[in-house]
Amino acid sequence: MQIKKVCCFGAGYVGGPTMAVMASKCPEQLFVVYDINQQQINKWNNKQYPVYEENLDEYINQTIGKNLIFTCDIDLALKDCDIAFLAVNTPSKQFGMGAGSSLDISYIDSCIQDIKQYTLTKKLILVEKSTVPIKTCDYINAILQNKNICVLSNPEFLAEGTAIQDLLNPDRVIIGGPIESSKQLASLYEQWIPKDKIIFTNIYSAELSKIVANSFLAQRVSSINSISIICDKIGADVNEISQCVGSDTRIGNKFLKTSVGFGGSCLKKDLLCLIYLCESLQLDEVAQYWKQVYLLNEFQKQRFINLIITSMFNSLKNKIIVILGVSFKAKTNDTRESASLIIIKKLQEEQAILRIYDPQGKIDNIEQYQSLDGIFQGASAIVILTEWEEFIKIDYSQAFNQMAKPAYCFDGRNLLSGDLMKSLGFLYYGLGRV
Ligand code: NAD
Ligand code: UGA
Repeated sequence: MQIKKVCCFGAGYVGGPTMAVMASKCPEQLFVVYDINQQQINKWNNKQYPVYEENLDEYINQTIGKNLIFTCDIDLALKDCDIAFLAVNTPSKQFGMGAGSSLDISYIDSCIQDIKQYTLTKKLILVEKSTVPIKTCDYINAILQNKNICVLSNPEFLAEGTAIQDLLNPDRVIIGGPIESSKQLASLYEQWIPKDKIIFTNIYSAELSKIVANSFLAQRVSSINSISIICDKIGADVNEISQCVGSDTRIGNKFLKTSVGFGGSCLKKDLLCLIYLCESLQLDEVAQYWKQVYLLNEFQKQRFINLIITSMFNSLKNKIIVILGVSFKAKTNDTRESASLIIIKKLQEEQAILRIYDPQGKIDNIEQYQSLDGIFQGASAIVILTEWEEFIKIDYSQAFNQMAKPAYCFDGRNLLSGDLMKSLGFLYYGLGRV
């Protein structure tokens, strides 16, 4: 089968950028991105992208109107389609059994119902690109009961903020499922990705690999954050520990930055999904092992909140606190599960007056500063929660002069030089650093 047309359910953080890059690398194929949300589709079509990613506009401009279409018309998406990606959201389930840990696949469900009702005129390769619970492929097959549809698992590993780079040059592409269809899907990727980076696996391994990869990443952050807590007690420097430990090539130096806790829509939900899987397999010791990774992350956020409140003598009422960063990491506008959300909530409970700024991220129903102009005037504290480069470049000497005294700085990303900040007069607190 020669692949001529590809569609994608879901025009979000994954569907939009992934299809834009694919369309630019596969000019012979047509890519139709379908979403039930008309507003979302309008944004893509009107250059007001719902996703902020470096160089994304370049890839959309190259392809939109040529071989890339964003639409709410399911016929346009499925008619004569050879490959359909499912890139819809799979959040933590919020109700019933497994609430708060299992993944909610109801959005996948409704895609499958749409496909089941559609009269397909040719064979279809249906690809799980969303992160799904293990054996979702069996569930999909049981619903569809259609020999002309072959289900594959092809999880996505892009990280927000570096999505385009990750899509152009992924560490690996995993394709799980029947080999003939897997090779057809691989033929798309082979148009820009070296063959040796494409790994063929059985379908359960592909599904599980995604959950495991995110859980390992979460584990790295919790590991270094746990060490930051020890450093705070003994006067060692966690940044130095990261460097010393990460120089061992067996350990590697990535994902060893201590922080106020990992956020984002996926690390936590996928880690919780792994814990739920262990529990449902009655593997209690394994579940406990992974649960600690999650609990440590919650503890790290709480620890930072306590640090702010106790350092300011439990007296934040009517004090102005500048919050720098609401995105869950730099270079993205995404605030889902950002540590900032809980920290802002707790500081509001203390009745502090918050001035919040982020170059891209916006939180619903909270007023934010559009720039840093005037933000430090009369403030008692600066709280850094996202590692935007813009925050390194601030003239902190000028900020200090404008602030009330004592002037505190709580650096939840170890972004600044503690020595420099202290020399300017700040009461500076980083994580795991003297
Ligand atoms: P998202 O919320 O940004 O986008 C999902 C889109 O799917 C929304 O626009 C929604 O309207 C649409 N949708 C829901 N039901 C639909 C339906 N029945 N038909 C068509 N469209 C429908 O989600 P996301 O961040 O792109 O994540 C999608 C999946 O990819 C999740 O499983 C996630 O775990 C996984 N993932 C996300 C990332 C990431 O960086 N965000 C990276 C890798 C994997
Ligand atoms: C993560 C994975 O990195 C992607 O491979 C995966 O595809 C994606 O989840 C997903 O499934 O959605 P993402 O959540 O976009 O990507 O961002 P990460 O770079 O993983 O960062 C997650 C959180 O960990 C952020 O809050 C970040 O600030 C924090 N982090 C990361 C640290 O605190 N320290 C580090 O050293 C690295």
